[in-house]
Amino acid sequence: MKTKIDPNPEKDELSLPKKVSRRDFLGISLKALGGLAAVELGAAGILFLRSRSIGGEFGGIMTVGKIEEFTPGSVMEVDDGNFYLICTEDSGFLAVYRRCPHLGCTVRWMENEQKFLCPCHSATFTKTGDFNNKLVARALDYFPVIFDKGMVKVDTTAPIVRENHLPEHVSYPG
Ligand code: FES
Repeated sequence: MKTKIDPNPEKDELSLPKKVSRRDFLGISLKALGGLAAVELGAAGILFLRSRSIGGEFGGIMTVGKIEEFTPGSVMEVDDGNFYLICTEDSGFLAVYRRCPHLGCTVRWMENEQKFLCPCHSATFTKTGDFNNKLVARALDYFPVIFDKGMVKVDTTAPIVRENHLPEHVSYPG
């Protein structure tokens, strides 16, 4: 009787998908999740660093950055300062308090809609902090902006209460 000899006996082993044990599968899944978490933490870290002051503490004068680093039309959240620094289209600066004048929740900047939104009762404010709703009939408070040796600083000693936004609330370097 003739026996058929396979010319490539390892072929089948190579072409068949390797059986993955439950332990291997869990190990691979955990590694993948760990990698994903590391990427997310890294991205969050970058955003966090980008939105922190470079000197001072809330309640005093805080240094935010070099004047030329700010893009006209941009809004930067300064997390440790509790304010948003707005660089206006004509290169002025306005620092608005993050605290909602209604009941004190932290307002969020909505980049796509170019407005501030309070998540607690949905009050909205314009890019300069003016009220845009019937719930809160006054603008977001603001802090004085100071220019010192090419740096933008914000005096967070005491927020300034205002009814409406006025052009004189914007400060210009030089
Ligand atoms: S606390 Fe902001 S709308 Fe009520």
